[in-house]
Amino acid sequence: MTKSSIQVSHTIADIRNAIAQYKAEGKRIILVPTMGNLHEGHLELTRMARETNDVVVTSIFVNPLQFGAGEDFASYPRTLESDVAKLQSADVEMVFAPNVAELYPFEQRFTVSPNPDLSTILDGEFRPGHFEGVCTVVLKLLNITQPDAAVFGQKDYQQLMILKRMVQQFAMPTEIISAPIVRAADGLALSSRNGYLTDNERKQAPLLNQVLQGVVEDIANGLPISQAEKLALDKLTQAHWVPDYVMVRRQADLLAPVAHKKQRLVVLGAAKLGKTRLIDNIEIEGLT
Ligand code: PAF
Repeated sequence: MTKSSIQVSHTIADIRNAIAQYKAEGKRIILVPTMGNLHEGHLELTRMARETNDVVVTSIFVNPLQFGAGEDFASYPRTLESDVAKLQSADVEMVFAPNVAELYPFEQRFTVSPNPDLSTILDGEFRPGHFEGVCTVVLKLLNITQPDAAVFGQKDYQQLMILKRMVQQFAMPTEIISAPIVRAADGLALSSRNGYLTDNERKQAPLLNQVLQGVVEDIANGLPISQAEKLALDKLTQAHWVPDYVMVRRQADLLAPVAHKKQRLVVLGAAKLGKTRLIDNIEIEGLT
């Protein structure tokens, strides 16, 4: 049997039309939002979506609202042709790839303000306005595609939590599905930004994951959390990285752990290696 070819829409009208036809046949829609430059991590998201038997729509849009001044919006890799080929091989039915003028024909004056308790900590402290940009574009993508479900990766742990809360707070009818981190054989979490690393930096890049793993082990061995965090920051600095943070937080709300209470924790870290900013996280199993 020949594979039907993937449908690529560049306009809101076009994708809405295509989705309406599937919905008229009683099909469910699942959205995989991406910024393109797809790697195995993204393809894992589409595989999870594929397993649902829903019609899979992948959006590809480098969202200017979520990049701060001096960040990599202009240089972010745009590889639509090869992305579409990968999605075709992954049996994705539809791609929504609008340009900036299509998604933001006017200055976007209505934006989503996520709860600052969640959006100004960790990555939000170092990327002011980032999560407002993410929420605004995701709200818009969900409004355009009206999916029954949407899949996001756990590498962006804080983003995933904020988006789950957004959907809950606005009573949106989309189920948010989280997909585990995909790692290279040496432990580096897959990310489009890994492509910025020089060969030498790529060899050093697994250190972030190793350092977070070290925090998990130190805590298991009874080291106080603050000391484990400090040790991790020192290891990164000594290896000439510039860490933004390494923090142990509660899985439930990303707040600091409460003393003398058993809780589920996650270790999160972000650091610059040369010009590339990498993030990663590890959930600590069981109660700590
Ligand atoms: O995780 C990403 O790639 C982006 O933040 C998202 C969710 C596609 C919004 O632009």
